[in-house]
Amino acid sequence: MSAILRLLQRDHTNISRLLRVLEGQLAVLEASDPVDYDLIVDILDYCRSFPDRYHHPLEDRVLEALRSRDSDAAARVGDLAAQHATLAAETTAALSLFLDARGGTEVSRDELIRTGREFLAHYHQHIEVEDGFFFPAAEKALRETDWQDIENAWVGPVDPVFGDREEEHYRRLRREVLTQHSPANTA
Ligand SMILES: [Fe+2]
Repeated sequence: MSAILRLLQRDHTNISRLLRVLEGQLAVLEASDPVDYDLIVDILDYCRSFPDRYHHPLEDRVLEALRSRDSDAAARVGDLAAQHATLAAETTAALSLFLDARGGTEVSRDELIRTGREFLAHYHQHIEVEDGFFFPAAEKALRETDWQDIENAWVGPVDPVFGDREEEHYRRLRREVLTQHSPANTA
């Protein structure tokens, strides 16, 4: 498997781990218990600063390459860039809502839960389609030279939560993910 595809799959694993932490916080919210807004905000903030800016554009490049090797498969994947734009907009809207709630603005619990649940459902659905069809199709159709071209043009940053050089800002989120959802528990 190409290094790029491995990287994208690893991102999905990491994003899924964060989504599970978010899921846990939504369950807390549904139980009317005190919720950890900082944690939710950090997760949404991460989604905006890493997947939206680096992971999704890299997938868009892979789809571009797939289009030239297997246009039928690419057509089946659909308009990934539009889906990524929708996810980014939903992330921004959810972040804004939870920032309001954290800041003391009155936001109904129902609205927070609905927004969080929709965000989770769409992200899971998106990742499932990519893992289930897009990545295998790319692995089958792309040639070594395609992967090399993508890799050469790619200047990926270090993941601020899961990379070797974690950002101070995300230290708590990283700790939370590592303690609650160790890789052994996420298989
Ligand atoms: Fe993805």
